[in-house]
Amino acid sequence: MKVKGKHYRTVWLKGKSVFMIEQNLLPFKFRIYEAKTYKDTCRAIKTMIVRGAGAIGAAAGFAMAQACLAKADPAKAKKEIEATRPTARNLFYAVERVFYASDPIAEAQKIADEDAESCQQIGQIGAKLIKKGARIETHCNAGWLAFVDYGSALSPIYAARDGGKNVFVYVDETRPRSQGARLTAWELKNENVPHVIIPDNAGASLMSQGRIDLVIVGADRIAANGDVANKIGTLEKAICAKAFGIPFYVAAPTSTFDPGCRTGKNIPIEERSADEVLYQSGRDASGAIKKVLVCSPGSPALNPAFDVTPAEYITGIITEKGIWKPQKK
Ligand code: MRU
Repeated sequence: MKVKGKHYRTVWLKGKSVFMIEQNLLPFKFRIYEAKTYKDTCRAIKTMIVRGAGAIGAAAGFAMAQACLAKADPAKAKKEIEATRPTARNLFYAVERVFYASDPIAEAQKIADEDAESCQQIGQIGAKLIKKGARIETHCNAGWLAFVDYGSALSPIYAARDGGKNVFVYVDETRPRSQGARLTAWELKNENVPHVIIPDNAGASLMSQGRIDLVIVGADRIAANGDVANKIGTLEKAICAKAFGIPFYVAAPTSTFDPGCRTGKNIPIEERSADEVLYQSGRDASGAIKKVLVCSPGSPALNPAFDVTPAEYITGIITEKGIWKPQKK
């Protein structure tokens, strides 16, 4: 995707370094971060400089390749990389592939290229589900920032826009890290797609008023039975969509499917720091970035990063190979 006329991938390997768009600084600053070693790349994944299923996958594959280039103990490096984020299936998929490859650099590059190609294909397939003038709700950021390029949930929206369909997007803010308000809104604005940021708790009301035609979200891991782990809050949107008869689609490349997880109950759910709930950071009137406490001082917070939406709530899963409709129970 282009930023100020220049094409960027979200994450790429050049020489021995992994370069990535520094997502923690968006939407206030656009900066590229250089991870010189596999340990730097691990840190970048853990601290969410790079985030989103496909982008984490590509970064993890590159980290494994960096470890091989540096002649680090591959088994130890694999463990370290895998310990960074537990839920995103793409991370494990990429690390495994690079670990067993005869040419780790070429394999890591191939994974990144495949991610971009799959997402482009998801856009073409998913756009057929979108009618002219459709009003679409999305959760978190499953755009090009979350993948190597194009995105999963946003890719059909970009393709529909390119096809002249005049779509409008309701962007869930997605507390606590606000990937919707900060990243999806920034992407859509950058792409000139009409949109509005809504509070996380506004979806049901808008659906009840007939203001949402379709929901499309991404996925971090998909179990064999079609249950989907995605950013916390997704489950509520799926339940509401079903209650109001609104199609609820998940968009994800097949690299997000985990045949090793029979159902959603087998998907490990990452729990993140309470500070992400208790504090918010943003830009003040002087332009300075500040972190402030937004909760009652001294109260604890619970921060599960993902939830699992049972297959029965999902209208279909848009992949690069077509749309899969999990068996309804
Ligand atoms: O914790 P994050 O920001 O890495 O969360 C992952 C996600 O971006 C979302 O859950 C997304 O909807 C699916 S991954 C494209």
